[in-house]
Amino acid sequence: MKLPLSHAEFLETYWQQRPLLLPQAVPNFTSPLSPEELAGLALEPAVSSRLIHCDHGVWQKTDGPFSAKDFQSGGTWTLLVENVDQWHEGVRALYPHLSLLPTWRFDDVMVSYAVDGAGVGPHFDRYDVFLLQGLGEREWRIGPICDGNTPQMNTEGLSLIAEFEPTETYILKTGDVLYVPPGLAHWGVARGACMTYSFGFRAPAISDLIARRADSILDRLAQTTLLEDGHSVSVPCRPGEITEAHLANARDAIANASEALDNLRWFGEVVTEQKIDMEDTLTPSALAHPDQAARLVSINCVAWSEYGEYIDVFIAGEAFRIPKTALEALVALCSGGELLVADLSANYPELLDALLLQGALEPCPA
Ligand code: SIN
Ligand code: CO
Repeated sequence: MKLPLSHAEFLETYWQQRPLLLPQAVPNFTSPLSPEELAGLALEPAVSSRLIHCDHGVWQKTDGPFSAKDFQSGGTWTLLVENVDQWHEGVRALYPHLSLLPTWRFDDVMVSYAVDGAGVGPHFDRYDVFLLQGLGEREWRIGPICDGNTPQMNTEGLSLIAEFEPTETYILKTGDVLYVPPGLAHWGVARGACMTYSFGFRAPAISDLIARRADSILDRLAQTTLLEDGHSVSVPCRPGEITEAHLANARDAIANASEALDNLRWFGEVVTEQKIDMEDTLTPSALAHPDQAARLVSINCVAWSEYGEYIDVFIAGEAFRIPKTALEALVALCSGGELLVADLSANYPELLDALLLQGALEPCPA
């Protein structure tokens, strides 16, 4: 993705803060997926899809799978298909455009097709999204940053902003990208039939990080370890009083125990979980086929950290410690590359075992 400013300037000024139009961020872009192929995906039970209709101001949402006749009804509708990068090679080939950010931060590519005048209504999302215009033109109406207190209409499983006042409007043509930060009100309206690719980047919830870190510390902390408070209780206090010194002592004790018992694995576990659909992943029987090439089911289900001679590799929510000799193979896989199962088996058996155990490998298409 080409930025009209430096990477550092984008991250400092716009990322998670304000929208940015990136004209021709993907020059000469041609949609790898046709509207018919997108509709074809939405017929599959394993694919997550929805149709959103709006007729005379009445919104309606239907979940897939659909049948061909669902797309023949008139009216104003949008078809949305999630995780298209996992189902379509051409869409997966767009991964290099995501190199602005760590791979584990990426969520999925959702693709929509809208008839003239259609959109999904004014709403906000809880993730960062790059909206790439794939086909035709779309008008994006942008509003303020919203949160849980913003009045919303909850109808038919849709959460739409009740009073949407656009403050800016952008017209996107094929190859243009609009970056939308979390919480920003937006509403895309198709100008003629159009397709939009949404590259979503979901940040982990702080509450999940705290919960996971606390759980891992508690696993290693003896229940019988008591608070040492000799110094703080020597400070004079009135009957019943908890002083600042008592509180500070407890807070320091928690911080010290957390620091000492933190195995630093919780972050990698949280950011790689819930990113694999176990269907169609390789099973250990693939080892019987030495010419089988394998790749990650998706580039975001694996992350790693380097510690001396070891790597902690996080695969779909679990941590594994493997020798550092596997680093090159790991980086190749995390870049979307493919490796022979025989090569993995002969040279990086610990990595292969962990990937197979977690269902993170899939056979490469012939
Ligand atoms: C769309 O592609 O129609 C909707 C994408 C979004 O608003 O997040
Ligand atoms: Co949105």
